[in-house]
Amino acid sequence: MLRIEKLNFAYGDLKVLWDVDLEVRQGEIVTVVGANGAGKSTILKNVSRLVRASSGSLRFNDVDLLRMASHEVVGLGIVQVPEGRRIFPEMTVLENLRMGSFVKATRKDRERNVERAFTLFPRLKEREKQLGGTMSGGEQQMLAIARGLMGNPKLLLLDEPSLGLSPLLVKNIFEIIKEINRQGTTILLVEQNVYQSLHVSSRAYVLETGRVVLSGTGAELLANAHVKKAFLGM
Ligand SMILES: Nc1ncnc2c1ncn2[C@@H]1O[C@H](COP(=O)(O)OP(=O)(O)OP(=O)(O)O)[C@@H](O)[C@H]1O
Ligand SMILES: [Mg+2]
Repeated sequence: MLRIEKLNFAYGDLKVLWDVDLEVRQGEIVTVVGANGAGKSTILKNVSRLVRASSGSLRFNDVDLLRMASHEVVGLGIVQVPEGRRIFPEMTVLENLRMGSFVKATRKDRERNVERAFTLFPRLKEREKQLGGTMSGGEQQMLAIARGLMGNPKLLLLDEPSLGLSPLLVKNIFEIIKEINRQGTTILLVEQNVYQSLHVSSRAYVLETGRVVLSGTGAELLANAHVKKAFLGM
């Protein structure tokens, strides 16, 4: 579905990605794990075209993404939930959700998608009239993911969905990620919660200072000595 080959990227003089190869097949949950500053978000930003690679190949179902602008990528069904919780603080939960179906083709599904979001996140239903900015951090994270789903994504890009959440909520968010995937959305996830994310992943990549140093199934990487030492404190 998504194939990244020999992707190189620099912010000005700062080279951040080096020959990154990464593939996401339909139906998978694929995770990129790595330390702060490794370049995880930069990979997602290249896919969603928020930044533009200097060289390499980036294809989505045989469409060349390198030639596309970010709004065109959304039209293909690639939706990014950004790092942090960029919801609209002055809008209610329901208004925030509706903003997620800004692409024309998804408008007809708007009310059905709102219902789907409320089923996945009952807490949002209870708070549909509350202003986004007054929601707790975890609730805002749920809202950001739910809003992403309003765009009928074929490929959902999630940037650190578990960041700053309590252990219980982390578990909950990963269960919801699995459920979203089970309902048919392919997911490319970036996480620092290596243990939880490898558990839900079909496959994963380890990124170190902009280079893919390891890849394999979630189970393989959980059992890998380097992963255990570098990320799991074992
Ligand atoms: N807009 C920017 N301008 C210049 N440098 C940037 C910019 N955005 C990111 N960087 C740098 O690029 C490198 C990779 O950043 P990136 O955000 O991709 O890392 P990350 O793996 O997502 O880290 P984190 O886990 O902290 O979110 C970092 O050294 C960062 O400082
Ligand atoms: Mg990041």
